[in-house]
Amino acid sequence: MTKRNKEILALISVLIVLAVAAYIFLTEKPAERTDSTTAEKTRPAVPGPKEITIRNVTKEAIPYSLKPNGSTAEPVEKSLAVGAVVRIPATQTMVITYKKWGRDVTYSLSPGRPYSFRSDSDDNIDIWLGSHGLEDAEDLAPFVPTPMEVVEKMLELAKVTKNDVVYDIGCGDGRIVISAAEKYGARGVGIDIDPARIQESKENAKKAGVEKLVKFRLEDATKTDISQATVVTIYLLPESNELLRPKFEKELKPGTPVVSHNYIIPGWEDKEAGFLSIKDQDGTEHSIFLYRR
Ligand SMILES: C[S@@+](CC[C@H](N)C(=O)[O-])C[C@H]1O[C@@H](n2cnc3c(N)ncnc32)[C@H](O)[C@@H]1O
Repeated sequence: MTKRNKEILALISVLIVLAVAAYIFLTEKPAERTDSTTAEKTRPAVPGPKEITIRNVTKEAIPYSLKPNGSTAEPVEKSLAVGAVVRIPATQTMVITYKKWGRDVTYSLSPGRPYSFRSDSDDNIDIWLGSHGLEDAEDLAPFVPTPMEVVEKMLELAKVTKNDVVYDIGCGDGRIVISAAEKYGARGVGIDIDPARIQESKENAKKAGVEKLVKFRLEDATKTDISQATVVTIYLLPESNELLRPKFEKELKPGTPVVSHNYIIPGWEDKEAGFLSIKDQDGTEHSIFLYRR
């Protein structure tokens, strides 16, 4: 083979290698991203904007009737089984009627909102706004933020330090773990099932400049691992606290402070280690319960 032929052969080999590399580069699919950012974008919000969900968190089936607001048609009679969630297509306000204290009561339900039938401490059934309409997850509480002055007292009562990892179960806009990071340099994990809340939490952490100290997880808090927590904060309904109690007992280390805004943890009376009552700026009284696992 002449020198020139060898050069041509070498050039052809280089071109083939480049062509194969270009083919692989252009046809290869990017690796699937499994981080929470992708999950947040792909997870559909339930209810969607044109539906209403109703969940039955009581211990009995609930008969109810429903019709669009202003409609003269006969309302549709239904019954909601214990633990069930119903998704109702709705582009306008719906009017629900059910029995309370033996009498018919009527409420308006807005499209895009999740609702729950719940019993109060006197066993009266009422309909409340919820957090989500997902069938496979508990609705622990609707989003109601803890006032900042109460957040500060919760962290003080738990004696948070920079060595702590604060878990807020149902973190809302992230204010508790963000405050713990800002004020004490503590690390934090906020868990919420609502994608809008997680998005808001991440933005708030960035604004506060503590995004390196805190993480936010879009998850059902009843199914996520909380064993790394050294402090736990909650602002959930009492029945949700009761539901989470076995999880706390299983996953938290003995002595871990659990601070609850406004509601007790039923069954943990012997673990109560502190109590505070403070008024917020509007004069509303708030209770803070400290437990030690
Ligand atoms: C009363 S708010 C408390 C927010 C925040 N912890 C605070 O104190 O300001 C309750 C939060 O729990 C969330 N939530 C309800 N069910 C949940 C579940 N199964 N898993 C995780 N979060 C849930 C709601 O979306 C809501 O943001």
